[in-house]
Formats: sequence, C-alpha cells, structure tokens
Amino acid sequence: MSGLITVTGGRQLSGEIAVQGAKNSVLPILAATILSGDTCRIRRCPRLCDVASAIEILHHLGCRAQWEGEDLVVDTAEMTRCEIPERLMRKMRSSVIFLGAILGRCGEAQMSYPGGCELGPRPIDLHLTALQTLGTAIEERSGVLHCTAPVLRGADIVLALPSVGATENAILAACCAEGVTTVSNAAREPEICDLQDFLCAMGAEVRGAGSSTVTVRGKQKLHGCDHQVMADRIVAATYLSAAAGTGGDIRLTKVCPQHLTTVTAALQQAGCRITLERQSIRLQSDGQLRGISLVRTAPYPGFPTDAQAVVMASLLRSRGTTVFVENMFENRYRHVAELRRLGADVRCEGRVAVVCGVEQLHGAQVHAADLRGGAALVVAGLQGEGTTQVGTIHHIQRGYADIVGDLTQLGAELRREDT
Ligand code: EPZ
Repeated sequence: MSGLITVTGGRQLSGEIAVQGAKNSVLPILAATILSGDTCRIRRCPRLCDVASAIEILHHLGCRAQWEGEDLVVDTAEMTRCEIPERLMRKMRSSVIFLGAILGRCGEAQMSYPGGCELGPRPIDLHLTALQTLGTAIEERSGVLHCTAPVLRGADIVLALPSVGATENAILAACCAEGVTTVSNAAREPEICDLQDFLCAMGAEVRGAGSSTVTVRGKQKLHGCDHQVMADRIVAATYLSAAAGTGGDIRLTKVCPQHLTTVTAALQQAGCRITLERQSIRLQSDGQLRGISLVRTAPYPGFPTDAQAVVMASLLRSRGTTVFVENMFENRYRHVAELRRLGADVRCEGRVAVVCGVEQLHGAQVHAADLRGGAALVVAGLQGEGTTQVGTIHHIQRGYADIVGDLTQLGAELRREDT
C-alpha cells in the first residue's frame, strides 16, 4: 500500500517508548525455522512488510506461520517445496537467506536473485562461494540459481568481506552439514549473535558469533524453540536522532545500549546528554547541536551504515560542519537530494557527504527512496517549520512497525494517510 506521512515540525519530543524487535534479526531467524522441522515461537516479532514477505515465502514452501498477539508461531514440519518464485525473491534482499536454510533441510534449492533497497550493487557472490565450500553445486539457468547439495560437508569458509548475509547463510547451511565448519572473517553484528542464540535454542551447536570466527558443528536433527527477538538498534538510533534534532527528553526501553555505542557517542559529541542503563537509553537535547568529527560507516562494531541517514538528519540544523564517509554501499545518499528540499545544506560526492548546519529547515514534499533514507526524511521533517509530506512510505514500512505511532507517543505531530 502506498501512502504519505505528514509531519508537522517544531515539537520537542518527550516520554518513553519500548523499541520494536529487530528486522535484521528476525528475517534470518524466520529462515532458520525451516531447519527445525518443528514449531518455533518467535516473541516480539515486529509486524513489518519484510516480515510479511518472509511469511509469504514460508507459506509458499508449505510451512505454517500465524500471529498470536506479538508472537509469530511458525510450524515447518510439513515442507512441500524447495523453490522460491521470482515474485517473492524480488520483495526483499533477505529472501536470499532462505537459500542456506532450504539447502540444509532439503539438499536442494532453486531461487532467483533477491531484491531489496537499491543501495548500489548488492552481489551475492560471497553467499554462493560459502555454500559451494560446503559442497553445494550451483548452476545458473535463465537467471535462476539451481543449487544441489545431497551431502553438505563441514569446511573452513573464509569470507572475503565480513558480509552479514553471507555469514548467516553459511551458518544456516553448516548447521546441517556433516562435521565442523568455521566461518572466518565473519560479520560481528549483534544480529548474528541473535541468530546463534536462536539456533542453539533449536539444538544446534554454534559458537563464536560476535567475533570474527564462528564455529558450527553440524547436527542431524534440530527441534522447535521459543525465542525473543533482540531490539532493533537502527529503530532506536532513529528515535534518538529524532529527539536529538528536535530537542527534548526521551527514554527508549528494551534496548541494548552496547549495540548503539557509536551512535550514542556521535549524538553525545553533538551536544546531547545520554544516560545509559542496563536496558534503556535516555537522551536529553536542547535542540542546539554542533557538528561532529568525521562519521565513517563500517562493519560492526563501527558506525552502522543503516544509521548514517538518520544521524545526518539530526545534524541538519547543527552549528558547524560534519563530514560523512559511506564505506558500505555505493548509493546510500539518495536522501540527500530530498533533505535539500527542506532547506538543508548537504552536498555529496561519491562516498563523501558534507553537512553544513543551517538556521532553519522548512516543510516540503519529499519521497523516500529507501528504508533508512525515508526515516531520515521524517526525522528532518520533525525539525522543519511547517508541514512535510513524505511519500512512497512503503519503503519505511519495510523496517518500522509503527513509526507514526511511536513518534506520536513521544509527542511529535505526524499522521499517516493512505493514498
Ligand atoms: C545487512 O545487509 C542488512 N540487512 C543491511 O540493512 C545492512 O545495511 C548491511 O547488512 C550492512 O550492515 C539485513 O540484515 C537484512 P552485507 P547485507 O552482505 O547482509 C558487499 C537495512 O536498512 N557484498 O554485510 O545485504 C555488499 O555489496 C538494510 O536494514 C558483496 O560484495 O549486507 C556491501 O557492500 C539495508 N558480496 C557489503 O558487502 C556479497 O556476496 C556489506 O554487505 C555480499 C555482500
């Protein structure tokens, strides 16, 4: 469904809100349920368009998935297919994570290339090489990958880059391989730790997530489990950025502050007061931020590329200049042209964007070109004089369960209109 978010700027944010479960955690977990051949209860599962797409894939494969309040209960005992049609693959990037899981369960899989946010080239060569190292034969015919692995054998996988998705795919397939697999140069993102916790709850033997080497001892049979998804650190970064830019005093609960250290350090340097507790973050801002030192996106524990746009949006009215360097994706400044419509002074060239703070932003009509860039437009609109209309919000709905409801609860003035 397409629609608009209409934001009236100028309100300070205040209050408390619990952060939703993490999209980038729950999507690989939904793929992993296939390995259980049993029933899994996923608690705090965010109701997102991408989760709906993953449910569609599970249904297509013959599995069941149904909501029980905030929980999603998935039963993968009956699996009748091992192929995903292009129509479903195109809906999101994470559809490719089903590859490792289907191969692990069925020994074969067919799918086309995945879709997802257009952030520049997003190849899957590392995913495929990792699966080949485990013994998968892959043939591409008319854009469809035909993968067969009658027997997966544990192996040493060395990733050329610490790709999040390739690490997840390798781990999922390795859970069903004969013997031990090590994944070196693995991504260290917290979402990999959440996947490990989920797999261990299903009876798998996975160790080392959060470090650069993950070890998996394959098992013949796994079982169902009950798991609570970790908090979404990028949604948390979005709301912190919103309050930093508008000014105010908010507390986010059910978050893990350690997952957000680079973001909170940046906002602190900009002049916000941050108080960390075990599972909450309080941010106080007078709305008069200053520019900060170079922000370079990097794999975790570096500054997250997914938070680049929203933190940039918080700094548009800051005193001074901030330079961003986007190292993860080639095309992740699509929000910049839209921010300029609101009166922002941001220039970008290649991987570098320079924000020079302006006195005031004003409302405008803008369009979300991707998920986090769209959220950044909302964060900017909250600081503008007058009304901002953000269009093509289906991008935002892929990752935020209720951005309008959450920010309204924090005192912002915004509403969603379906068109
Ligand atoms: C995950 O994408 C996240 N998505 C992204 O979040 C996030 O931006 C990204 O990790 C980096 O943190 C999910 O977890 C569902 P990568 P992923 O493989 O796994 C290159 C959001 O907004 N690469 O770590 O696709 C790639 O082109 C989304 O929530 C290859 O060259 O990211 C990129 O430059 C957007 N070959 C770099 O590695 C490959 O086979 C990192 O990508 C795979 C990746």
